[in-house]
Amino acid sequence: MSKKKIGIIGCGHISDTHIKSWNKTKNSEVVGLFDIDENLLLAKAKKYGIKNTYTSLDNLIEACDVLDVCTPPQTHFTICMQVINAGKDLLIEKPLVTDVNEWEKLKEAINQKEVKVGLCHNLKFNLSVQNAKKKIEQGDIGQLLRINRYFLTHPDADRMLRGNSHWSHKLPGGRWYETMPHELYITHFFAGWSELDNVTALSTSNATEGAPADEVCFTLSNNNVISNYHYSSNSKQNKRYIEFIGTKGILTLDVLSDMMLVDKVVDSKKKRALGIFGIDALKKVAQIIPDRIRYYNQKLKGISPHTRIITQFDEYLDGKADSPTPMEEIDFVVKYCDIVGNEIDRKIKK
Ligand SMILES: NC(=O)c1ccc[n+]([C@@H]2O[C@H](COP(=O)([O-])OP(=O)(O)OC[C@H]3O[C@@H](n4cnc5c(N)ncnc54)[C@H](O)[C@@H]3O)[C@@H](O)[C@H]2O)c1
Repeated sequence: MSKKKIGIIGCGHISDTHIKSWNKTKNSEVVGLFDIDENLLLAKAKKYGIKNTYTSLDNLIEACDVLDVCTPPQTHFTICMQVINAGKDLLIEKPLVTDVNEWEKLKEAINQKEVKVGLCHNLKFNLSVQNAKKKIEQGDIGQLLRINRYFLTHPDADRMLRGNSHWSHKLPGGRWYETMPHELYITHFFAGWSELDNVTALSTSNATEGAPADEVCFTLSNNNVISNYHYSSNSKQNKRYIEFIGTKGILTLDVLSDMMLVDKVVDSKKKRALGIFGIDALKKVAQIIPDRIRYYNQKLKGISPHTRIITQFDEYLDGKADSPTPMEEIDFVVKYCDIVGNEIDRKIKK
């Protein structure tokens, strides 16, 4: 059976991960590239030995079965409409769009043309996140009560915050909107549909062009779980943690090293004498080696979270798997990105 022809739109940072991931799928291969920047286009084609480069998007669409959109979110609506109208399936990098009305129009066109759509909600495919999902479903930490996520960064360390010309600065809520889908689909994946409770945004004297609100918190909840998210562009620690707090334990995930630690130490007076943190630390040391073996096994095979989501999308296109991003998840993410992003701007009167 011949492979599905994949066309990549946008040859910037994330396209490398996409090309490498498509190259690992069974049923698809990247056959063409398009970018408005010809230098980037030719360099990417050379790097991966891709013969066909296009200076017209229509021509790339015509030559391919599936289009993979790796451009800034401000361009997604127009590009996706063009792909859908041509009746081709598409994978799109998050954030899908810059406002919820664009998604409503895209959805209508998707239904009309009956094309398949997937979003790169890759954090769901981190080993640590998959492992957390399994543990929670098995009841290992009891009933899930709370999700806390810290996104602590600094303009010196964050390529999107450096300088004052990155496209993410112009999104609602600035740079935070670029990462916000990750937070929102984590809530949807673990807690289901939730409602927004509040958004707190500060613009301190350290605020930069990319994150005019440099300290942001927002909370969502449903009857079971509270999700709380914190963005800071003031931290020199560069940390991306997620905590899942259950009735019987806490899972702490470091997103950047894709690592999960389980804390199920129950407090008692005797243990306090030894030091709860000390006991917890010893138990955690024992978890590090198997966790890192799992991580390096995947690294050595060149498998990233993008590889896992693109592999599932490839199987979905073939009718052999579910969509990696159900429609309700996309609805949820787009709706709250729009609301939270604009609320951040409103709070600091951008
Ligand atoms: N899922 C993730 O973990 C993850 C990580 C990084 C980026 N992203 C997302 O991927 C997308 C791209 O991000 P990036 O960091 O690669 O950006 P980038 O700025 O590095 O690359 C974007 C590329 O798109 C090209 N481009 C811009 N407008 C275009 C158009 N109309 N037609 C064709 N090409 C166009 C640019 O020339 C550039 O080469 C964004 O939506 C971003 O949020 C996702």
